[in-house]
Amino acid sequence: MHVLVVGATGTVGRHVAAQAVDSGHTARALVRDLPRAQLLLPPSTELVLGDGSDPTTLPRAVDGVDAVVFTHGSHGAPGDAERVDYGVVHHVLKTLGPRRTRIALMTSIGVTVHDGGYNRSTHAHDWKRRAERLVRRSGHAYTIVRPGWFDYNREDERRLVFLQGDKRRSGGPSDGAVARDQIARVLLAALTCPAAERKTLELIAEAGSEQEDLDPLFGALVADPPDGYDGPLDPDTLPLAAEPDRVRAELDALTR
Ligand SMILES: NC(=O)c1ccc[n+]([C@@H]2O[C@H](COP(=O)([O-])OP(=O)(O)OC[C@H]3O[C@@H](n4cnc5c(N)ncnc54)[C@H](OP(=O)(O)O)[C@@H]3O)[C@@H](O)[C@H]2O)c1
Repeated sequence: MHVLVVGATGTVGRHVAAQAVDSGHTARALVRDLPRAQLLLPPSTELVLGDGSDPTTLPRAVDGVDAVVFTHGSHGAPGDAERVDYGVVHHVLKTLGPRRTRIALMTSIGVTVHDGGYNRSTHAHDWKRRAERLVRRSGHAYTIVRPGWFDYNREDERRLVFLQGDKRRSGGPSDGAVARDQIARVLLAALTCPAAERKTLELIAEAGSEQEDLDPLFGALVADPPDGYDGPLDPDTLPLAAEPDRVRAELDALTR
């Protein structure tokens, strides 16, 4: 596949780019700083200079791709959750237009926690969740991966566990942890696994060794409802009817 990685210079994205190349895909990265990207990414990665929050820079990045892996993200600065976590997904999907690709989107465990302190101050969960909704309604074949805490797992905790319903809601590492390289593996595996299509999962790792075949894990998940906008077991903590008009209009405009 010709895979575009959005957020390729990030701590998970650089594993995605490296593993994509290792597994025989062609990797393209949307990057904001070419010299930095050259230091971080495999030499065979095609670098396209652009900014996901500026749609005028995106046509070259999406041209001819078969798949998009989103691992970008903000870190709590005011306005960034909307501009980055949501805005980048919105602009890339819009730029793709009617073309159909395979999409793997990384958000976060706890993304449905609306009333917690972190979301109240950053709105990051809500904007990531709105990005998930854009992907679900976009008509692309997709998988949404909500990882637990990055690299809080011990070395002997490599057995991947896929959860649904976003029931781990403490907002700390006790909700589950997973290594960054394993998150990348799951995102990439989803692109070529039919059983991963239209699935939303929380991803953690527990004691034991990593599975060789991820297809049974994807296959055991409940698929997202065909005309729904959330994961199948998600709590309805962000009702669509109460969403701002602009958010609903953007969702409608991208619905295929
Ligand atoms: N840490 C955890 O335990 C944890 C758990 C679950 C989910 N998450 C979520 O994971 C996300 C990513 O975390 P990370 O540690 O990998 O972050 P990171 O290393 O800062 O990576 C973020 C990536 O997004 C890119 N990016 C930011 N704004 C962009 C834009 N406008 N256009 C294109 N690319 C843009 C960055 O590019 P530059 O290199 O150019 O800045 C970078 O490649 C965060 O939002 C976080 O909420 C984290």
